[in-house]
Amino acid sequence: MNKTEVFAHRGSKGTHPENTLVAFEEAIRVGSDGIELDVHLSRDNEVVVIHDETVDRTSNGKGLVRELTLQELKQLDAGSWFSEDYTDCRIPALQEVIDFLIDSQFKGTLNIELKTDHYAYPGIEEKVIKLTDKKEIQFKIVFSSFNYQTLIRLKELNPTVEIALLFEKNGRDLLMLDTDIMVTMWHPSLLWFREKMLTDEVKMAVRLWTINQTQELAYCFNQGIAGVITDYPEKALALRNQLETTT
Ligand code: G3P
Ligand code: MG
Repeated sequence: MNKTEVFAHRGSKGTHPENTLVAFEEAIRVGSDGIELDVHLSRDNEVVVIHDETVDRTSNGKGLVRELTLQELKQLDAGSWFSEDYTDCRIPALQEVIDFLIDSQFKGTLNIELKTDHYAYPGIEEKVIKLTDKKEIQFKIVFSSFNYQTLIRLKELNPTVEIALLFEKNGRDLLMLDTDIMVTMWHPSLLWFREKMLTDEVKMAVRLWTINQTQELAYCFNQGIAGVITDYPEKALALRNQLETTT
C-alpha cells in the first residue's frame, strides 16, 4: 500500500503562527513530506504568504492585504496573536519562504495555494511561476487553488507545472478524475471525503484537508490515501510511524 504523505498545513498551523517562517521551520524539523502555504498580492504586487484576504486575524494590523504594500505588511507583528513567544514573526514574501526552504535543504513538496477565490489578483499566476522557476529549487512544487481559472492560467504559462484543484463539496464529480487530465491531484475537504466511497484510483489521487483528529489520520494512513494536509504534522508523522511498526 502507498505511504500517505503528510503535508504541513500553513506550516504547522496547530503549533506555530500559520504561514510564517517559524511554522515552516517546524514543518521541516518534524520531517513533513510537504508544506502547504497560501499566497495573495500586496498593493505593490509582491506575492505574500498569508491565508486571509485581510491581515486582521493573523497580525496586529488591520486592512486588506491588497491595499497594503510589502513594506507596510512587514511592519506587522504576525506572531503575537498566536502566542507571546512569537512577537518577532513577520508576514513573509513568497521569495523569502523559497529562499528559506532552499537554505534548509528541504527536499519535499511545496504546495502553493493561490488565494484567487475572493480577488483575482491579476498577474499573480505569472509571478508565482517566475518565482518558482529557479534551478536552485531542489524541492517539488504543486500549485493549488479553489479557482479553476487560476489553474488553467498556470498551465497555459507552463504546461509542465503540477496543479491540484481544491474543492470543498459538490465542486467536482469523481468521474472528472478520468476525464480531466489537466489536474494531476485533487485536494478535497474532509467534508467531501466523508460523503464518498473512495475507490483505489481516487485514493491515489487525493490529498485531503484538514485532517487533524487521530482517528481520521489513522483511517487515511490505513487506506493508503495519497496525502493528508494537517495542522499537526508532528503528531501525524508519529502516528504514521506507529501504524507502520504495528502492521
Ligand atoms: O490546501 C488545503 C487548504 O489549505 C485549503 O483551505 O482555507 O486552509 O487555505 P484553506
Ligand atoms: Mg490553504
